[in-house]
Amino acid sequence: MPSKVATRFLDATRDAIAEAARVLGAGGLVAFPTETVYGLGADATNGEAVARIYSAKGRPQFNPLISHVADAKAALPLARFTDEAKLLAGVFWPGPLTLVLPKADGCPVSELATAGLDSIAVRVPDHTIARDLLKAFGRPVVAPSANQSGHVSPTLAEHVRTDLDGRVDLIVDGGPTSVGIESTIVSFLDTPTLLRPGGLPREAIERVLGYELADAEPVADNAPLAPGMLSSHYAPRAGVRLNAIDVRPGEALLAFGDVVPSGAATMLNLSASGDLVEAAANLFSHLRALDASGAAGIAVMPIPNDDLGEAINDRLARAAAPRP
Ligand code: TXA
Ligand code: MG
Repeated sequence: MPSKVATRFLDATRDAIAEAARVLGAGGLVAFPTETVYGLGADATNGEAVARIYSAKGRPQFNPLISHVADAKAALPLARFTDEAKLLAGVFWPGPLTLVLPKADGCPVSELATAGLDSIAVRVPDHTIARDLLKAFGRPVVAPSANQSGHVSPTLAEHVRTDLDGRVDLIVDGGPTSVGIESTIVSFLDTPTLLRPGGLPREAIERVLGYELADAEPVADNAPLAPGMLSSHYAPRAGVRLNAIDVRPGEALLAFGDVVPSGAATMLNLSASGDLVEAAANLFSHLRALDASGAAGIAVMPIPNDDLGEAINDRLARAAAPRP
């Protein structure tokens, strides 16, 4: 359970939007309306702010998040657009369409927000308050639906309050959302694929493209990985050994806490102070860096399994699983 914060509740005035941008800039969490559902926003470039989203939603899993930007131009530094992705963005943005694309070089979005993937989901919401906030903030905002994990998505600020009071810094009330279901997600990583049906009908997209979208592999509702990410999930080249209390020859060390075994050629600490929010923020980038060090294996110290530790351990278990 994350520590309780005093949640403020503001009508969506200009002052409230300016305040929301300040809270985001300070690494806080702001729930705000989009045309689909209310989103739980954080600064996409701040790993610790992103980690707080997962914690606030409860039963945390590091599913990749959608980066929201004010307009298509602001999406260009984040993702590599194919011609067809550009076409769809031109026709449907702002609107309930999320595009999954290869990450751009130098993309400023934190590794945690994309769950260590080489791809990124981007969208431009069609809602004045959301876009005013994104413009005022000036950086991408990641925002899953602003509900507790397992609950239905919120279409009223009151729904957000019921689910997240005491877990977010600010809720901006902009009245009911108009679309009421989440955005449609299309990936352009390989064959253009419908990853999630949503507020924009697939037929509208197919009409513009001139062909049918492929369907994502069906996955169970409670599947830990999102559609479309199973095949592209980041797995280190080096073997991963969990719950390590020592370092073996040739291993790099992914440490946690202030008591660290010696002997590693390369060591990175997820959080020397034992803070799970900090550890989550560092997880994917540290794994990548240790892998790039050329070590044959990565020894990972034990991580407590509470709050964000559950998701951290879930991801580490996947990284350590035998390769196909
Ligand atoms: O309408 C919406 O999209 C709302 C509002 C707030 O914008 N947001 C939303 O976010 O529904 P969320 O986190 O509940 O859903 C995001 C979906 C997840 O299924 C996630 O797996 C998928 O997007 N996703 C994000 N990045 C991805 C990636 N790189 N590859 C595949 N799927 C991705
Ligand atoms: Mg959701």
